[in-house]
Amino acid sequence: MERELALEFVRVTEAAALATGRLMGRGDKNAADDAAVKAMRMAFDTVYVDGVVVIGEGEMDEAPMLYIGEKVGAGTPPQVDIAVDPLEGTNLVAKGLPNALAVLAAAPRNCLLHAPDMYMNKIAVGPKAAGCINLDATVEENIKQVAKRLNKRIEDIVAIILDRPRHESIINELRRLGTRVKLISDGDVSAAIATAFERTGVDILFGIGGAPEGVLAAAALKCLGGEIQGRLVPENDEERNRIIGMGLKDPEQLLLMDDLVKEDDVIFAASGITDGDFLQGVRYAGNIATTHSVVMRSITGTVRFIEAVHRLDLKPHYIARSLENRKDK
Ligand code: FBP
Repeated sequence: MERELALEFVRVTEAAALATGRLMGRGDKNAADDAAVKAMRMAFDTVYVDGVVVIGEGEMDEAPMLYIGEKVGAGTPPQVDIAVDPLEGTNLVAKGLPNALAVLAAAPRNCLLHAPDMYMNKIAVGPKAAGCINLDATVEENIKQVAKRLNKRIEDIVAIILDRPRHESIINELRRLGTRVKLISDGDVSAAIATAFERTGVDILFGIGGAPEGVLAAAALKCLGGEIQGRLVPENDEERNRIIGMGLKDPEQLLLMDDLVKEDDVIFAASGITDGDFLQGVRYAGNIATTHSVVMRSITGTVRFIEAVHRLDLKPHYIARSLENRKDK
């Protein structure tokens, strides 16, 4: 994929962040999601790709936009797979909590795992600890390996995990080991990426979250030189059959980086919606809004942080509308 596309994809995540950031703390996660989806969908029309959504808002009959299989982009080459999460952390925006992101990943056609909307068990680390994790090993073995690689004591390691009853045994085990634990209410894409930025203080992610989020995190970690391993968690026969239907022979196969993102040619872009560990949220002041984004390419490993100042009165309709909404209230 042409490197110029990186900036085009940031425009798309910026549009989603600008549209949904207005709804921070309103307690309405559906309205926040809706605003992000509409803005992202419209912004895609201006991008010169022949894109197909492989990870999106759901199946065609349940999502009006950005549904799986929908064509996006201007329809010109290159042919790409698109994975989107216009609003990663719907509750985070609804409550004004940290780390809500607008996210997308793109790779050549058929290179992203078409992960169904179900759970995935995950373990992830940043570049310094890549190669020393194993989803099939115990929590203790993984923590010991990561501590050794990072030249830290077990007590110095910070593990991040979604605060869910299903994670009780992992959390208890981390506490027994003396590891520092960061429990989060939502947002395991941001949490996985945090392992790759030392300033976040986070070393390793454990736990079960969404499978689509697992592929998006894999795209980012491929660019950053980190590692994620996953295993789908089908909850019934129907989910098991869906996995087989999408081409995996063993529904519970261990998914490594190259299973999640096949080619070493992926672009990942994210814009902060609320303030977070590695991205600031959107700021509004009259006709001006500021966004903070990151865009990365796996081919070169370049990671760019982009702070953009937007003149909302000169923006296309899909962003200006968020200003009108405010006047209506
Ligand atoms: P949404 O943005 O769809 O609300 O997802 C937020 C999230 O926390 C993801 O980051 C995570 O993978 C998933 O939900 C976890 O699912 P659950 O809330 O069912 O435990």
